[in-house]
Amino acid sequence: MNHLIDITDLNVEEIDDLIKTAKDIMKNKEKYSEKCKSKILATLFFEPSTRTRLSFESAMLGLGGQVLGFSSAASSSTAKGESVSDTIRTVSCYSDIIAMRHPKEGAPMVVSEKSRVPIINAGDGGHNHPTQTLTDLLTIASEKGKLDNLTIGLCGDLKFGRTVHSLITAMSRYKNIKFILISPNELKVPDYIKTEVLDKNNIEWCETQDIEEYIDKLDVLYMTRVQRERFFNEADYIRLKDYYILNKQKLENAKKDLSILHPLPRVNEISVEVDSDPRACYFKQVENGKYIRMALILKLLEIE
Ligand code: NCD
Repeated sequence: MNHLIDITDLNVEEIDDLIKTAKDIMKNKEKYSEKCKSKILATLFFEPSTRTRLSFESAMLGLGGQVLGFSSAASSSTAKGESVSDTIRTVSCYSDIIAMRHPKEGAPMVVSEKSRVPIINAGDGGHNHPTQTLTDLLTIASEKGKLDNLTIGLCGDLKFGRTVHSLITAMSRYKNIKFILISPNELKVPDYIKTEVLDKNNIEWCETQDIEEYIDKLDVLYMTRVQRERFFNEADYIRLKDYYILNKQKLENAKKDLSILHPLPRVNEISVEVDSDPRACYFKQVENGKYIRMALILKLLEIE
């Protein structure tokens, strides 16, 4: 069975193919509009979402398929005490492919063993978010024309930010990538990523708390939200939530061709005055998310 649980379930060639297909879909929407006729996508979201769930649904509808699902655990039998494995077993009788988001790290992997249909991890706790990473890779490839020889700054909640973990893992497979990890001390990239991903792949990286220290070196700046829902205490969240607020002044020394990405939702970490800067790519990124998910659905369903 083809599942997408971790970004490394796809090799670099497969990712290149997905990017190629996504770009083709953007140009030739008509050609793809019936590819998933009679196929059903289920979106099972045990955690809040706007973009991920709706882009999956929009992707399947754009391919001529249909969608069903739920957008909160409270409206499913989870509220009655059903296990997530039983839920998946049930929904795999009603659908051809399932995108699920769950607060527990590893939940999509565990249930994929029980599923009769492909499972896509649409975010598992503070762990991984591979389809956001596909979106990010398509955005970087489109903006930069390449996925190698880049200096990438990741800023904000690098501890709980699952998109950061998957993006570092994915980008570490390309040539000559350097990471600048910008976070408060309490929200640094977890050690397992430093040892198992960065150091193992001989990636150049450094840490700083100061967003302006290396801003002139960056090709990509990936901003993230402080992940309130993963904090153990509200006081820590309040202390850290506005640690970084990217504004025009902080971008003064940045490269003219910097690409500013953010998986969204944004809270305060990018001032709205940056939205009109030509370097802001986060709304293009939103649009890319639909097309790369169309490409992914086709791949997992083995549709040409
Ligand atoms: C991200 C997520 O859910 O991890 N959002 C998304 O899917 N675009 C980032 C976030 O919630 O901060």
